Amino acid sequence: MAQTDTIDSIDIIQEDGEGVEIPDVLPLLPVRDVVVFTYMVLPLFVGRDKSIRAVDAAMSRDRLLLLSTQSDSTVESPTPEEIYRVGTVAMIARMFKLPDGRVKVLVQGLGKAKIADYTKTRPFYEVKIEQIPEQEMEKKGVETEALMRNACDHTEKILDLRGELTGDVSAILRGIEEPGRLADLVASNLKMKVEQAQDLLEMNDPVQKLHRVNELLGKELEVSTMQAKIQSDAREEISKTQREYFLREQVRAIHKELGDIDEKAQEISEYTRKIKNAKMSKDGEREAFKQLKRLEQMHPDAAEASVVRTYLDWLVEVPWKKSTREVLDIKKAQRVLDQDHYDLQKVKDRILEYLSVRKLNKHMKGPILCFVGPPGVGKTSLGRSIARAMNRRFFRMSLGGIRDEAEIRGHRRTYIGAMPGRIIQGLKQCGSNNPVFMMDEVDKIGADFRGDPSAALLEVLDPEQNVSFSDHYLNIPFDLSKVMFITTANLADPIHPALKDRMEIVELAGYTEEEKLAIARQFLIPRQIKENGITSNHIGIGSKVLREIISQYTLEAGLRNLEREIGTICRKVARKVAEGEKGPFTVTSAKLQRYLGVPKYLPELEQESHEIGVATGLAWTQAGGETLYVEVSTMRGKGELILTGQLGEVMQESAKAALTYARSNAKALGIGRNSFQDIDIHIHVPTGAIPKDGPSAGVTMVVALVSTLSKRAVNRDVAMTGEITLRGRVLPVGGLKEKALAALRADVHKVIALRKKSVRKRTRKAR
Ligand SMILES: Nc1ncnc2c1ncn2[C@@H]1O[C@H](COP(=O)(O)OP(=O)(O)OP(=O)(O)O)[C@@H](O)[C@H]1O
Ligand SMILES: [Mg+2]
Repeated sequence: MAQTDTIDSIDIIQEDGEGVEIPDVLPLLPVRDVVVFTYMVLPLFVGRDKSIRAVDAAMSRDRLLLLSTQSDSTVESPTPEEIYRVGTVAMIARMFKLPDGRVKVLVQGLGKAKIADYTKTRPFYEVKIEQIPEQEMEKKGVETEALMRNACDHTEKILDLRGELTGDVSAILRGIEEPGRLADLVASNLKMKVEQAQDLLEMNDPVQKLHRVNELLGKELEVSTMQAKIQSDAREEISKTQREYFLREQVRAIHKELGDIDEKAQEISEYTRKIKNAKMSKDGEREAFKQLKRLEQMHPDAAEASVVRTYLDWLVEVPWKKSTREVLDIKKAQRVLDQDHYDLQKVKDRILEYLSVRKLNKHMKGPILCFVGPPGVGKTSLGRSIARAMNRRFFRMSLGGIRDEAEIRGHRRTYIGAMPGRIIQGLKQCGSNNPVFMMDEVDKIGADFRGDPSAALLEVLDPEQNVSFSDHYLNIPFDLSKVMFITTANLADPIHPALKDRMEIVELAGYTEEEKLAIARQFLIPRQIKENGITSNHIGIGSKVLREIISQYTLEAGLRNLEREIGTICRKVARKVAEGEKGPFTVTSAKLQRYLGVPKYLPELEQESHEIGVATGLAWTQAGGETLYVEVSTMRGKGELILTGQLGEVMQESAKAALTYARSNAKALGIGRNSFQDIDIHIHVPTGAIPKDGPSAGVTMVVALVSTLSKRAVNRDVAMTGEITLRGRVLPVGGLKEKALAALRADVHKVIALRKKSVRKRTRKAR
């Protein structure tokens, strides 16, 4: 095997082997990857068996052999066809045997030769050669001179770019007189493909050869220049950042010298000041300084640094000690409550008692108030009034649909984008640690795999525990004991029992039409007039019209829709005023439709006479009370019970219980004995499209059933509500005020019911 070492400098031989007698037959050493030129000196590693023998043969004669390149360098043992026919006769200047059996030889090109014939192929190639003499030039033309100079210049430039140019090399290059020799010398040091080099070797005309070399030099120069530029660019980039760094360090040093503080130190001192001003708890301050120290040791642009900064910002902005001055003037509180709300006497009293106790006992750990009532009855607005009366800030958050404990307690700081929980967020927003903090919809908290928010709320709401509330993000106990928590709910039943236990339920029932009328006059109309930028001179709404709005455009226990409808009227009046019409605009029954469109609710269809198979029940809905009619009809059949009207499961069970009761007491109820086997019974509750549920229609169903079966009419002036047991007992139900109001709307003046709190009163038979 013959391989080259890298040759990184021009090797020049002074005595060019002139006078050496070159025989006609020489051993052949095929070489790979390199084309050897005349005058070239290079080391070769010889490993192939055949090649070693060729070297040995040469050494035993006159040290001469022919070096010829193989056309495919990957071939291990090339055939004569795979070896270029033109090669270079070379002399072995030195030879070493390497321990692994290979041989290293230093060869020196003497002259070109062509293989005329293979005289021997085993154990090594021996060839008959024809020498190709160098073409002598009689007289160098101008062109040749120019080509030579150009070649020298380019070579120097390339070597310079590579950082390899020395004075010696220049001198040698410039000292060469023959163009062919110069071409060979330069070519032997160019990085070329084997084919290109072989081409060059085979050229005989020195001028042509120089041309080709110059061409290759031009290309090489371009590549080298580009390479050098890339390198210097990279170097420049590095030195630029280094420069900036030095400058910055210098600036810092100058600042220091002048007694200025640098940015980082400024930030640290700013935080130090803020931490001191925040008047944190001992734990808080310790933690804050600890984090500040960490920040000081970090690079200011590190990602972790911004996490620490955010944390410190939270720590210093949470109101640890900031509070508004509480006013506990009971008279004033009463005035404020009365100013904002009509009636609600019981609720207001309860609030005032609460405040009184608080005034006398500053450290009272009283229960948490929980306002329970249908939507729009003033729960939130009462909370606002309380805050106003006590000179506290007001904050409201909704617990509806919260499923994640982290919403209350925050995420641990290890999470990306972690934040404190809503309690701490709310306090920061208020900027005081004693606001009235209203949590709406405690009855609608969800719980799932993310943890139970109720559990976290327990800690918040329990006066015994909330002195040291722990938010996951802050990770330091925070004192919530000054916060006045108020919760609200639409229904008391779904509230988590442990939560309910810590709260005092204050019920707000729905309003009657009279109450709504009064509230509209005193509060809603003046407020809407003001909000829409008109005055009371512009608009007139009579009581009759108000009643119509209440009964035909709203169906609710509270006041929200009523206020919205009044708002709509005021808005339309405002437009007219803005368009230049002169008022006053009086809203009459006749004009009402022009303001509000067609009525949304029609008065319930009243039943004219006493009828068989229809009984009037009362239901409680979110919007207040409603009357509902239970219809029962029988037909010939096989004793089946058909239930329609979107009845819920509980209501269906009620129907079955009612039927069982009627059957088992048939005789006492005056129903014929055989009537059940050969009839189907159909119970329907209109309005059919609205889903209904709950046990309170039980009594009504029994009455309607018995009426049909015994063919006796039901008194239409009586409405009833109550759960029925199989033994005919009627159980108490809730929502009586709303139900009674609904009965009144339907013009029914008698109601049979049992109040929930007085279970032991007498039970009525449903008949
Ligand atoms: N007794 C009242 N006197 C005067 N205004 C009232 C009264 N009750 C309710 N309002 C008004 O009715 C509107 C609705 O009340 P609010 O928003 O407090 O209802 P809510 O009970 O909180 O309802 P929700 O359960 O839907 O949150 C408010 O504008 C409020 O001022
Ligand atoms: Mg509310």
